[in-house]
Amino acid sequence: MTTRRNKRANDPDTHRVAVIGAGYVGLPTAATLAHFGHHVVLAERDVERLAALRSGRMPIVEAGLDELVAEGVGTGALRFSASSTEAVVGADFVFLCVPTPQGDDGSADLSYVEAAAKEIGALLEPGTIVVNKSTVPVGSATFVERIIGRPDVRVVSNPEFLREGSAVRDSLHPDRLVVGAADAHAAAMVGGLFASTGAPLIVTDATTSETIKYASNAFLATKLSYVNAVAGLCEELGADVRDVMLGLGYDKRIGFDFLRPGPGWGGSCLPKDTRALLHIAQEAGYDFSLLAGAIASNEQQLARVVAKVEAACGGSVEGATVGVWGLTFKANTDDRRDSPSLQVAHRLADLGARVQAFDPTVTADGGDEAASGPDDLRGLLLCTDPYEAATGAAAVAVLTEWDEFRWLDFSRVHSVMAKPAIVDARNLLDPAATRRLGFSYAGIGRR
Ligand code: UGA
Repeated sequence: MTTRRNKRANDPDTHRVAVIGAGYVGLPTAATLAHFGHHVVLAERDVERLAALRSGRMPIVEAGLDELVAEGVGTGALRFSASSTEAVVGADFVFLCVPTPQGDDGSADLSYVEAAAKEIGALLEPGTIVVNKSTVPVGSATFVERIIGRPDVRVVSNPEFLREGSAVRDSLHPDRLVVGAADAHAAAMVGGLFASTGAPLIVTDATTSETIKYASNAFLATKLSYVNAVAGLCEELGADVRDVMLGLGYDKRIGFDFLRPGPGWGGSCLPKDTRALLHIAQEAGYDFSLLAGAIASNEQQLARVVAKVEAACGGSVEGATVGVWGLTFKANTDDRRDSPSLQVAHRLADLGARVQAFDPTVTADGGDEAASGPDDLRGLLLCTDPYEAATGAAAVAVLTEWDEFRWLDFSRVHSVMAKPAIVDARNLLDPAATRRLGFSYAGIGRR
């Protein structure tokens, strides 16, 4: 984390900002704005979450967040409130960072956005700028404007591009800032809040800004589907995807990011936003078959990983014990929403495997079926460490790329397994070294 000196309270570039919602987006956004010297009130109505924040405990796993929040609280730039109506009083800017869950048809549920806008509308000072930070359907800025119903309040779209796990770094050093509104001056004012990042600023209309967000995530998802498909092809051809990706990545137009094959892309953003964009395209009468293909390919990727585990167990997992390392949708987060790792684990359990799972962010009492735990873990046997998860297993599947899995005592893993087979769905381990230890090894597109 960089340390930038906080600006003084009377600095004309310092603003009063309210952030509504202390989730994966709102919390890093509020802490970052406080770090940039603004006076921020973060409103969160979940009492437990608020109490945790007030006592210095972070409600989400996010590198560097505790320090950034502590810094804001320490300087007085960051305060918490249980009420959005209290938080917005006197604010120059109000950031809406509330959830936008998805319906079955891919459409976004704007009820939280609507409720927040209704709640604060009448309380805003004339000239306040309301910022849509949550990922919202194209047309949402106009929707929020209508809900607020105030000609003296402007609404600006300012999509976030934070990755979970590196949200603090991404907030402090964004690749770009996108702001969109009918009133270009209001949009530029929002960009000005982040001026000290020095990031390129794209000022546009709200519709374009909202489209940029979906197009970015859908592009990343499509890139990953492509990468996963190339990995599948490598297996058929006898090529090694790792070198193929090196060969691709050095082309600056392609770059190295998002070239790691995996069990499929997941999380709360890529799956949601690709489906949403497909829905938006359908509504607009546009046949976005490329995107539909990327989504279908991602489904196949999950099935391919399951098939690899079945093959490692001799053709079927029915009645077999399978160790699973990793349940979160990627490493360095505790988020299991739309996690490919969790979906693979459940599919294996549905096929009759006894699934022994370990994840560094899931606490377990040792081999306990998660009957009384969170719903999404039901049917899995939760283990306290990776060795316990491997004990008696006919195969271990590495499903999330937690760094600690690289550095295990693999002789010990070998000795506790019933059959030493590893399916490495993240290409985390060295195939040759793993085989030298006596394991059978199957990666994704690796020889
Ligand atoms: C994504 C985008 O990367 C952010 O820019 C965006 O702001 C965010 O969604 C959002 O809309 O809020 P995030 O969901 O945190 O961020 O996760 P990513 O790092 O994009 O990973 C998404 C999925 O792709 C994960 O399942 C991950 O394991 C997978 N992935 C990623 C790979 O399989 N290989 C890679 O090389 C990279």
